[in-house]
Amino acid sequence: MSKTPDLALRFAGIKLRNPLVLLSGTAGAGREIKKLVELGRFGALCTKTVTFQPRPGNPPPRIAETPSGLVNSIGLENPGFARFLEETAPGLRSLPLPVIASIAGNGPELSRMAEALTGAGPAGLEINLSCPNVGGAFNPTAPTEIERLLREVRRATGLPLLAKLPPDFYRIGDLARAAETAGCDGLTVANTLPAMVFDLKLRKPRLGGITGGLSGPAVLPVSLYLVHRARQAVGLPIIGSGGVHDADGAVSMLLAGAQAIGLGTVNFFRPLAYREILQALAEFRTAGPGRRKPTP
Ligand SMILES: Cc1cc2nc3c(=O)[nH]c(=O)nc-3n(C[C@H](O)[C@H](O)[C@H](O)COP(=O)(O)O)c2cc1C
Repeated sequence: MSKTPDLALRFAGIKLRNPLVLLSGTAGAGREIKKLVELGRFGALCTKTVTFQPRPGNPPPRIAETPSGLVNSIGLENPGFARFLEETAPGLRSLPLPVIASIAGNGPELSRMAEALTGAGPAGLEINLSCPNVGGAFNPTAPTEIERLLREVRRATGLPLLAKLPPDFYRIGDLARAAETAGCDGLTVANTLPAMVFDLKLRKPRLGGITGGLSGPAVLPVSLYLVHRARQAVGLPIIGSGGVHDADGAVSMLLAGAQAIGLGTVNFFRPLAYREILQALAEFRTAGPGRRKPTP
């Protein structure tokens, strides 16, 4: 009988048992989702983004379904950094997988949070550089601005540092290079696509926050494009984020150039998809091109 291939990897200096990463905002800090999935079968978990000050988030409704997708306008609701540090960070080490803490803010806030989190529980940090549901300092867009911000965070921590990039089709290569130059250890490509949905009866936007971010199967081909372009630009390891919901999507992420595969919206509609994905990744490891069994 053939042995199941080992899917373990080192990603940005973090040891993962396999390439599957639960994406920020879709898996809490592990407590909630562990009722639905076996956390110990994933490579890592990214926590919901936390900001320095507490944020109430956007008015409801905050989620609208679209064909093969989801538009969310959560608006970074979170209890603020002090509570995260006190109540959540200490428990992260007892989870059966490495946890990457996601943070967002301006330069000084990010540096303070990064410094305080060093040695406090997380195995790494992910800087959320694009949240389409909030404005201002949370959304730097120019490569120079992103490089400056990430350099500042880099100085504040020795933890593995990931930059979660916005889905900027035209400049994704420049943004990836900016993160690499700033000293990041890895990338997450990319966040949700800015989007809008209307209620035609009311003739009004369906989301309380008016606009939101599109995720789910609908965005997979776009994510593959972004990962491919980022891979052409830099050598940093990449978590492919956007639309993976089955084995074919996961393998496609690897073919596009990602080392790790993010699972987000799928956790809401098919949380056990990871089982078939892990099996497909094992087959992909052992089989050459053209030999993988197609998904029935
Ligand atoms: C309800 C919801 C909340 C999210 N919250 C965050 C967040 O707090 N921080 C972040 O970086 N990304 C957040 N995201 C984006 C996901 O982490 C992921 O990048 C995106 O959904 C694309 O992947 P998917 O199609 O597999 O969901 C959120 C996505 C959803 C659907």
